[in-house]
Amino acid sequence: MKTIETVRLENEAATEQLGANLAHRVRQGTVFLVGQLGAGKTSLARGWLRALGHEGAVKSPTYTLVEPYELAGQVLYHFDLYRLEDPEELELIGVRDYFDGAALCLVEWPERGRGFLPEPVLRVDLAVTGTGREASVQWLAAEASHDN
Ligand SMILES: Nc1ncnc2c1ncn2[C@@H]1O[C@H](COP(=O)(O)OP(=O)(O)OP(=O)(O)O)[C@@H](O)[C@H]1O
Ligand SMILES: [Mg+2]
Repeated sequence: MKTIETVRLENEAATEQLGANLAHRVRQGTVFLVGQLGAGKTSLARGWLRALGHEGAVKSPTYTLVEPYELAGQVLYHFDLYRLEDPEELELIGVRDYFDGAALCLVEWPERGRGFLPEPVLRVDLAVTGTGREASVQWLAAEASHDN
């Protein structure tokens, strides 16, 4: 069953707060962060990682494709697939291992990895509206996988 919530985000702090809230609701699986350049995907990921105890900067791994984290006993991978030329490159860097385990994967630009990513448990669409953003949060996994 799909559950969609729409959230208005007035500033960057609100985007980070949404990420923090979601961090406590999903521990495992793949999360798609969708939206145009500058929509707030990395801001949401930053809030997510900080909520689990990460201190310091969170840069989008645009050139490295993925940045690993281990926080609060949880393995996380933050992907940015913007520069991916061909989804098959994901096979070459061995992403199957990243997605197969008990890790939580945050994926910016998931559309660039089409065909090589697992089904997401959660998808967040971010859109620019005025000076702020609007987020559409879509739960795609079975009800049991998150405490909604
Ligand atoms: N709710 C918001 N309202 C206004 N500005 C925001 C909001 N959320 C994030 N921003 C700002 O938008 C800018 C871009 O944010 P961010 O880098 O997170 O976008 P992105 O979607 O990751 O972009 P890219 O596609 O380049 O990776 C930043 O300056 C950030 O502070
Ligand atoms: Mg980004």
